[in-house]
Amino acid sequence: MKTMIPSIVKLRRAGSHGRRLLRVAATSVAIALTGVARADGGPAHSLTVGEGFREPLGFHDPTPTFSWKLPNDAKRQTAYRLETIADGVKWDSGWIETDQSSLLPYSGPPFDSRQQVAWRVQYRDETGQARDWSAPAHFELGLLSAAEWNAKWIRPSTPSDPMQEPVAWLRRKFAVNGDVTQARLYVTARGLFELELNGSRVSSDHFANGWTSYNKRLDTLTYDVTSQLQSGENVLQAMLGKGWYAGKIGWSKTIGNYGHDPELLLQLEIKYADGTSTTLVSDDQWQATWDGPVISSSIYDGETYDARKPVSNWGPVHVSDDLGSARLTPKPFPPVRVTETLKTRGITEPEADRFVFDLGQNMVGWARVRIPVEIDQTATIRFAEMLNKDGTLYTANYRNAKSTDTYTAAVSGEIEWEPKFTFHGFRYVELSGLPAGVRPRPDWVTGVVLHSDLRRIGEFASSHAKLNQLQSNIVWGQRGNFLDIPTDCPQRDERMGWTGDAQVFCPTSMFNYDCHAFWKSWLASMRDDQMPDGRIPHVIPDAIGDGGSPGWMDAATIVPWEVYVRTGDIEVLAENFAMMEKLVDWYRAQSRDGLITEIKAFGDWLQPYAPSNTGDTPGPLLATAFYAHNAELVANCARVLGQDDKHQRYAAEAAAVKQAFAEHYFDEQGNLQNAPETQTAYLLAVTFDLIPAQMKQPCIANLVRLVGKADGHLRTGFLGTPYIVTTLDRWHHPQLACDLLLQDSYPSWIYSINQGATTMWERWNSYSRDDGFGDAQMNSFNHYAYGAIGQWMYERMAGLAPDPAQPGYKHFFVRPLIDERLDFARAKLETPYGTAISGWTTSGGQTVVEVVVPPNTTATLVLPDGRPRETIAPGAHRFELR
Ligand code: BGC
Repeated sequence: MKTMIPSIVKLRRAGSHGRRLLRVAATSVAIALTGVARADGGPAHSLTVGEGFREPLGFHDPTPTFSWKLPNDAKRQTAYRLETIADGVKWDSGWIETDQSSLLPYSGPPFDSRQQVAWRVQYRDETGQARDWSAPAHFELGLLSAAEWNAKWIRPSTPSDPMQEPVAWLRRKFAVNGDVTQARLYVTARGLFELELNGSRVSSDHFANGWTSYNKRLDTLTYDVTSQLQSGENVLQAMLGKGWYAGKIGWSKTIGNYGHDPELLLQLEIKYADGTSTTLVSDDQWQATWDGPVISSSIYDGETYDARKPVSNWGPVHVSDDLGSARLTPKPFPPVRVTETLKTRGITEPEADRFVFDLGQNMVGWARVRIPVEIDQTATIRFAEMLNKDGTLYTANYRNAKSTDTYTAAVSGEIEWEPKFTFHGFRYVELSGLPAGVRPRPDWVTGVVLHSDLRRIGEFASSHAKLNQLQSNIVWGQRGNFLDIPTDCPQRDERMGWTGDAQVFCPTSMFNYDCHAFWKSWLASMRDDQMPDGRIPHVIPDAIGDGGSPGWMDAATIVPWEVYVRTGDIEVLAENFAMMEKLVDWYRAQSRDGLITEIKAFGDWLQPYAPSNTGDTPGPLLATAFYAHNAELVANCARVLGQDDKHQRYAAEAAAVKQAFAEHYFDEQGNLQNAPETQTAYLLAVTFDLIPAQMKQPCIANLVRLVGKADGHLRTGFLGTPYIVTTLDRWHHPQLACDLLLQDSYPSWIYSINQGATTMWERWNSYSRDDGFGDAQMNSFNHYAYGAIGQWMYERMAGLAPDPAQPGYKHFFVRPLIDERLDFARAKLETPYGTAISGWTTSGGQTVVEVVVPPNTTATLVLPDGRPRETIAPGAHRFELR
C-alpha cells in the first residue's frame, strides 16, 4: 500500500527504565528489557486499528476504533489528535483531551469498501507538550456488504453423494493484458476453500472461511494477488471441502448441517497502469469437477488421497443467482495458519511394519509426511494422543472420528504430502502400508501445528517445574482448541464451540493470546444463534440444536464482560447487551419467587467421585446461582453503558434472586440446606456474592472443611473448579489455595502432569500410570476447561491483575502471592498500553518484587508485608519485601 502521510523517523536510544532494570536478578532481564527500551521524546508507536489489527487488508469495520502506545519516557497522555486520509480525503479529529490511547472511536465519515486508509496520531504528554506525529499506519477495507458482490455462487453441476465428503475443484482460465498495478481477490465459501493462482497457493490461510452460523453470516477474505498474476493466460483454481458447512459434524454424525455441497463465491478485481480495470467473478464461465486425487476430506474422519487420479472430467458449474440471506462481511479476526512445526522425538515399531512416531507434544493439526511409497500401494497415517501399554495407538477416545489419512501412490519413490481440510488431535503418528523392508527415519513425519493465528501476548514463568509444565499445557490446550472457534476438544467426534468450556477458560485465554477479535466474532455467532426463547445453544455455532444449561449459556454474559475488563472495549458490551437481556428474561421465566426449581443441566460436569457426570451439586441450585450472577453482570454492563434505569432494574433483580437463593439454600449460620453439601455450592454462594456478608466467613469455613474432608483435594467439576483457588485465596486462605494448586495426588492439576500430560485433560485421571485409561466415552487429552487456573497463576502467583473499574489495564493491580515453595514467579503481558510485568524472586531470605508499569497507566501495589497500598507510576520498579 502506498504511504500517504510522510513518515517521521526518530533516532531511538535506550531509556532510563532500561538501565534501572539491569540491576534486578539476571533471570528477569531477558523478560523485562524487551518491553522497556523505547525512545525518549518520541511519537506514539504500535498503531493498531479495531481489535488490535496491524496494517490489515480486507478490514471489516467502516467506523473503527484506533489504538496506539506511548514511548516509555511519556508518563501520560493528556490529549491526542488523529488524522486519516482515504482517497485523498483528509479527516482530522483536532485535539481531543483524554488520557485514553486505546480503542478511540472514529467520528469521521464511514469508510467504504476497498478504501485504503492511512492514519497517524500525535499526543500531548503529561507536561502538555505535543509530540511529533507517529509514523503512518494503513488499512484497506474488504467488501463490506453483499451489495458489493457481482459474483454468483457456483459448485459442480452434479451433486455429490450426501453420505460422502468428497472435494470439489473449480477453475477459471483468463487472460491478463497490460500492466497490473493492483489485484484484489475477494472470496468466501459455503464450506472450506483453498485457492491456487497459476499453480501457487494464494495465501497461507487454512480452513477459510472458518465456522460461523453460515445461514446468517459468511466471512469473506481479501487477498492481494498483484504479484501472482502474469501477462497472458492465468489459471485460478479453487478446492472446496464440505468442512463444517456440509460435512459430518455433531454427535449424531449429522451430514450437511447447513447445506449439501460446498459452493464458492469469488471476485477478482484487477487495476491496470493505464487506469482501466477488470473484474472476474465466479459465474458460468467456470468449470468444475468432483474427480481428483482427494477422494474424501472430512474433519472427523481424515483425508483419503489417491495420487493416481489427477483432476479430470471438468464440466459445467451450477450457478445460483441468489446470493442468499447471510451477511457477507470481511472476516473480523485472524484465520487459521501453520504456526509451528514439530520434529519427531522417537520412533517405535510395536507391531511389524507399523511405525509409531512420537512428536513429544500433544498437538492439533496434521502430519506432513515425507515417505517412500510403492506404486498402487496405500500408506496409512493414523493418529493418537496416547499409546496403549503395548505401544500401539490408543484411539478409543476418538469415538466415531476415524481420524485417518491415506495416500495411494501413482509411482514408486519418495513423496511429500499433507492433507487439506481435516485436522487431528495427536502426539503420536503411525505409518503403515510402506514398501517392505524400509527403515523409518525421523524426518518422515513433521507435526504441523494449526490454529487461529492470534498474537501471543502473555508469559508466565516460575521456579516450579511442574507449574511451568502446567502453563505450557494450558497454552497448548488453547492453541489446539482455538481453531477458528473455541472448541471443547480437537480430536473426537465433537470439536464444537461448547459454551461452558469457553466461559470458564476465557479469562485465562486473554492472558496468553490476543483473543479480543476472536471472542468478539464468536459472540457474534452466539447472537446469531440465540434461541427464540432466549436460551443460548450448548454449542456455538449451533450444530446440535439444543441449549439451556446453567453455567454453559452464561457464556453470553461472562465472555463479553471478561473481554471488556481485559481490553476496555465497551462495544463488546453494547453489541451483546440485548442477547444478555434475553437470556436473563429466560432465566426469569423459569423462576418462581426468584428460585429455579426445575432445569435440564449438565451440572458441575465431571466432578470427581460423583455418581454421574453431572456431579453432586443440584441443577436447580446452579441455575438459581447463575441466574443471579447473570442479572448482576447485566446490571454491571448497563452501568458501563450508561443505562441507569436498566442498571437499577437488573441490580434489584439480582438482589432478589440472591435473597431467594440464600433463604432457600442456607441457614443463618452459613450452612447449606435443602441440597447436599458440595464444594461447588459453597463456592458459588461466595464467589457470586449470593449470601449476606455475615454468612460468608462461615460459608468459607464450610468450604475449607469440605476440602479437608477430601484430604486437601478438589471435589469440583467444570463449574466449581475455576473458582475454588481464586475464592479461597480471596477469602483469606491463600496458603490453602496454593496447596490445592500444588497438590499432586488425584484429583489435581499436578496429578495429570505426573501422569505425563502435555496438554490439559478432560479428566484429572484421563490416564494414570496405575489404572490406565478412563472411560473412553469422555476421555479427551486436550480439553482446556481446567486450564482456567491460568488466570490465577498470572493474577496472583505472579501478581498481575486487571481492574474492572479501569478496564484494559489502564489501571491494574500488582498483588503477588509469595509462597515459600517457589523461588520466583513472574508474569509479562503486552497490555493495550505496553508491556506490564509483575514478578518476584526470593533468594537468601530476601524477596524482591519487580514491576513494570506501561506508559499512560498506573498500578496499585499490594504487598503481603503489611505496608500500605501504593499507587505506582509508569516505569520499572523494584521493591524489597520487609
Ligand atoms: C464436551 C464438554 C461439554 C459437555 C457438556 C462434552 O461432550 O466435551 O466439554 O461442556 O459435553 O456437558
